[in-house]
Amino acid sequence: MNTLDITWVKRGLDGDKLGCLAVFAFEDGDPALGLSPALAPLARRAVELKEFTGGKGQTCMLLPPSGDVQRLLLVGLGAADKAERETFRRAAGTVGKTLAGLKIPTAGVLLARGIGSKGVDLGETLAEGLALGAYTFEDYQTKKPEKNEKKDSLKTITLFDPHGAAKEASVEWGLQRARAICLTRDLGNHPSNVLTPTRLAAEAKAVAKRRGLKCTVLGEKEMQKKGMHMLLGVAKGSRQPPQLIVLEHRPRGAKTTLMFVGKGITFDSGGISIKPSAQMDEMKFDMCGAAGVLGAMELIGQAKPPVNVVAVMPACENLPGGLAQKPGDVVRAYNGKTVEVMNTDAEGRLILGDAMAWGIDTYKPDAVVDMATLTGACVVALGHYASGLISNDPALEKKVVQAGKSSGDTVWPLPAFEEYEESIKGKVADIQNIGGYGAGTITGGLFIKHFVGKTPWVHLDIAGTAWGVKSLGHVPNEGATGVGVALLADLAIQWKD
Ligand code: BES
Ligand code: MN
Ligand code: ZN
Repeated sequence: MNTLDITWVKRGLDGDKLGCLAVFAFEDGDPALGLSPALAPLARRAVELKEFTGGKGQTCMLLPPSGDVQRLLLVGLGAADKAERETFRRAAGTVGKTLAGLKIPTAGVLLARGIGSKGVDLGETLAEGLALGAYTFEDYQTKKPEKNEKKDSLKTITLFDPHGAAKEASVEWGLQRARAICLTRDLGNHPSNVLTPTRLAAEAKAVAKRRGLKCTVLGEKEMQKKGMHMLLGVAKGSRQPPQLIVLEHRPRGAKTTLMFVGKGITFDSGGISIKPSAQMDEMKFDMCGAAGVLGAMELIGQAKPPVNVVAVMPACENLPGGLAQKPGDVVRAYNGKTVEVMNTDAEGRLILGDAMAWGIDTYKPDAVVDMATLTGACVVALGHYASGLISNDPALEKKVVQAGKSSGDTVWPLPAFEEYEESIKGKVADIQNIGGYGAGTITGGLFIKHFVGKTPWVHLDIAGTAWGVKSLGHVPNEGATGVGVALLADLAIQWKD
């Protein structure tokens, strides 16, 4: 993982030598506030020439002719009365991204008087945004030692906070949030020849060990014994063995149990209903639901909220091997329902259905949230900004929408009218794994509902938001986003019965 540290100091600049100093300013605000006599005129000149107005997302890089600070970066926050948590996270993300791209060894951010907004924890938000923005994935890039590429790169950003607008503990928590999100990004970005179901299980065990969680992994034999033939059916076309990975956070005295379920298809070729070659490489990201749940557990293991949280992550590959399941095959699910596999590419709902029914049976949760890169249709419906939401319980839905707002992982509900269920009724079996043309995200969700029973449930379709997101400061321009980590963690941390 490549991101950086934030050092918080309760003072202004004092002869600090910096490759770059970043300052924020609201629309029509004064970016020169708190700057030294050497730097202030430069910032004022930028305002005078309308190079910088403080508009949302605006940046302006200035080069002082001499002095301790080599570069001055002005970053706009937009209208002060409209600024919310996400405004600061994105602006900080833009700073992190810019600084990480400069290849300078030292950098700082100055928090001038008046920067902030009611109800926003500035330390947490800025630290999270800065570290997320600075994230890069370079695990497979060979470094040239003669160029000293590693040595010269930025390791830490100093947060200069002369007015005490941020708290040190908040900065630390913001960094932890960013690290958990970056763990999820890493898992998504690794290619499928590395990030196999077995490797994902090993990563979960490492999280469990680090954070004091319980980890259990069911293999093929146990799945057979328990009758998880939807999951086994998907895994059949691959030589990589499937894994059902479980993590448990069980604080003493907790009464409520939340269950998170994440789709862990480490590569989705479509199976016998094979996908077109163009962009098929992106199907290494088809485990981002599971990776997001894992990242959330990493964070929950640190925050230790007083609720039980059980994470269930079914993982396998969807490949067209000689033993692969075929369109028209009928399998019996863990809960006894028979399913006609009309399209082997609608595999996520199959593995989730078994994981969900087994998890509910075993852990009796009070609420379940599943997260999956389930349908291309969700990208058509909502694009790359909001994740789709389907639910059977308005009260839980409200909590998830709220956690989406507070975390910045925006979700948007789609209707789950009963009438849509008609299209997944089976011809030779109880149900089939695809509906007709249209409403693909809804029918995908409603298929999963067959394995939920009466438990309050929310399904999140992150097909559009798990990777390939552009123009958000804290999100990388390439690769996995880590969507859902903050939402799920906040849901557990803010939980009220
Ligand atoms: N993993 C895909 C969904 C997906 C596709 C996510 C493109 C992001 C980008 C899923 O397993 C899938 O293949 N879904 C099918 C369902 C269809 C066969 C009903 C789809 O969306 O085409
Ligand atoms: Mn598929
Ligand atoms: Zn898939």
